Amino acid sequence: MVENKVALITGATRGIGKEVAIQLAKQGYNIVANCRNKEEDDLDGMKKEIESFGVKIIFLEANVANFEECDKMVKEAIEEFGRIDVLVNNAGITKDGLIMRMKKEDFEAVIDVNLVGTFNVTRNVIPHMIKQKSGRIISLASVVGVCGNAGQTNYSASKAGIIGFTKSLAKEVASRNILVNAVAPGFIATNMTEVLSDSVKENINAQIPLKRMGTPEEVAKVIKFLASDDSSYVTGQVINIDGGMVM
Ligand code: NAI
Repeated sequence: MVENKVALITGATRGIGKEVAIQLAKQGYNIVANCRNKEEDDLDGMKKEIESFGVKIIFLEANVANFEECDKMVKEAIEEFGRIDVLVNNAGITKDGLIMRMKKEDFEAVIDVNLVGTFNVTRNVIPHMIKQKSGRIISLASVVGVCGNAGQTNYSASKAGIIGFTKSLAKEVASRNILVNAVAPGFIATNMTEVLSDSVKENINAQIPLKRMGTPEEVAKVIKFLASDDSSYVTGQVINIDGGMVM
């Protein structure tokens, strides 16, 4: 158990982000849960669940694609808790389509939220971690950022960008005792994959050695490991969580 440590998770009110908040709260972290819009999800239910682990939670609205809103969010988090020990860059969107039909706005929107958003939050958190002389930054990439996927040029580019960002930042801040890693999930059962048809899901499962999609909990537990003292010699890595899909 950790004491008085704080984790900031973006896009934390549903899916993988919510499960990360739960797993870290169980370890004793106070939680700063970023969301795009407070009306979107069941925040009362989440507050009760997180507080049942004996920790505090605050919800902060910010569009990660907007630098000023991220600056304000990090300032509010520091005002409330005085520190940020773990940052999980989880907020992400898809706007899939084959390149011939992809609009420039759809390419840019995905890069802005997934990649620029990761920069915007990290850039505002890093000075506090440097001052503390410790920190963990864990970003959500994807296996398609490693191996590509037809219909996802925008999303794959954003996730490949996160991998490059992670490796460069890991080299930059290692001397400051800040560890920077990424996880690359395969197909995980959340709102993001719910939109796929049953036949597409069957096709996907057939290509996965473990023959099923993963759960948010299975991703969150690897993130919990990367946030913990057990991973004190791990930095600049991308850990696939994909049932063996990409080897
Ligand atoms: P989700 O769609 O269930 O949740 C995404 C969260 O991000 C939501 O809470 C949403 O409100 C928030 N968000 C979106 N745009 C935002 C913005 N501009 N500012 C702040 N918050 C914003 O998705 P899921 O599946 O939980 O995904 C979480 C992360 O994991 C994403 O980065 C996604 O790309 C990544 N991932 C998911 C996979 C999957 O199969 N579900 C596979 C690989 C990676």
